[in-house]
Amino acid sequence: MTHNVLIIGAQGMLGQALVAAFGEDEAYHVTAWDRAEIDVTDTPAAREKITALWPDIIINATAYNAVDACEEDDAEYAKAQALNTRVPGELAKIAASLQATFVHYSTDYVFDGQRPRVNGRRGPGCCGQKCQKCRYMGPEENFPYWPYCENDDANPLSRYGQTKRDGERAVEKYGSRYYIIRLSKLFGAPATAPGAKRSFFDVMRDVGVKAQRDGTCVTAVDGETSCFTYAPDLAVETKAIIEDAAPSGIYHVVNSGPCTWYEAAKTLYEILGMDVCVKPVPPSAFPRPAQRPASSVLISTKRSPLRDYREALREYLVQTRA
Ligand SMILES: NC(=O)c1ccc[n+]([C@@H]2O[C@H](COP(=O)([O-])OP(=O)(O)OC[C@H]3O[C@@H](n4cnc5c(N)ncnc54)[C@H](OP(=O)(O)O)[C@@H]3O)[C@@H](O)[C@H]2O)c1
Repeated sequence: MTHNVLIIGAQGMLGQALVAAFGEDEAYHVTAWDRAEIDVTDTPAAREKITALWPDIIINATAYNAVDACEEDDAEYAKAQALNTRVPGELAKIAASLQATFVHYSTDYVFDGQRPRVNGRRGPGCCGQKCQKCRYMGPEENFPYWPYCENDDANPLSRYGQTKRDGERAVEKYGSRYYIIRLSKLFGAPATAPGAKRSFFDVMRDVGVKAQRDGTCVTAVDGETSCFTYAPDLAVETKAIIEDAAPSGIYHVVNSGPCTWYEAAKTLYEILGMDVCVKPVPPSAFPRPAQRPASSVLISTKRSPLRDYREALREYLVQTRA
């Protein structure tokens, strides 16, 4: 039997990887829509169009990701609320009415990153259920904070994080068979729209080339510890979660290997064999309107860990080598 899967936001960084992962499997018929085919903020039109298609699976890869813009600009904040909170709720309702599986994505920025490590005891913000089963993430001096499990208390520090948390709640409220998948620091081929945001590694590769040419050092924040997520790996895991008929709920899907931005930059240049001077700086060296969690390492109590991000990064760099 062929499953009809609708991927919305299909030209985004994650959307493209989803189209590839489902498209190469004959068990699926993929419909890939982006802004040219549907405006998900226009609920009546979206409902009509999706209902006419009647997919078995609806995957929402649309997003408002301008974390800082929506923190300081109310018009941008309204856009974030529409796309990150209202739209997932409406799509969850549509999916439920069609008895379709609904997949939505969220972020580590729903956490405040301030849950201190309390060895052997329940720390503030901890759900108290599965944390003791979570894998140990490294020496204590490197990880002063516990990683977050799916049930841990969310407490967003930014408007963006709040809109994503409210979107999760809307899906939980209106969804029937649904998966809310949290990820962090996505990387992969950039979205196809002109001026689309490129991932950290693509930006840092160019910055490194320039630094080498000019004989200068690259600075990178030695903080905001979290896990990178390779879009193709996330897409394959999304498909596996659906195929396993996993229970509805929140899932954490990230690549293994928590790191700071500084550590990730050093790893990038090592893999590329580039001799670049990288200087660690504290987050305060790059003041931004939206506050970020100091440490938001996501951990899964429901699924096996994905491969290390360094292995995924090597693969990505080989594929994108000019
Ligand atoms: N990127 C990250 O580091 C990161 C981190 C944590 C979580 N996430 C989550 O991961 C998911 C995927 O993010 P992403 O980075 O792949 O996003 P993305 O690259 O920005 O792609 C989003 C796609 O959705 C389209 N879109 C936006 N508004 C739309 C609308 N009203 N109707 C139809 N299509 C619309 C966009 O078109 P335009 O380009 O024309 O706007 C774009 O093609 C999101 O839920 C995001 O919050 C991402």
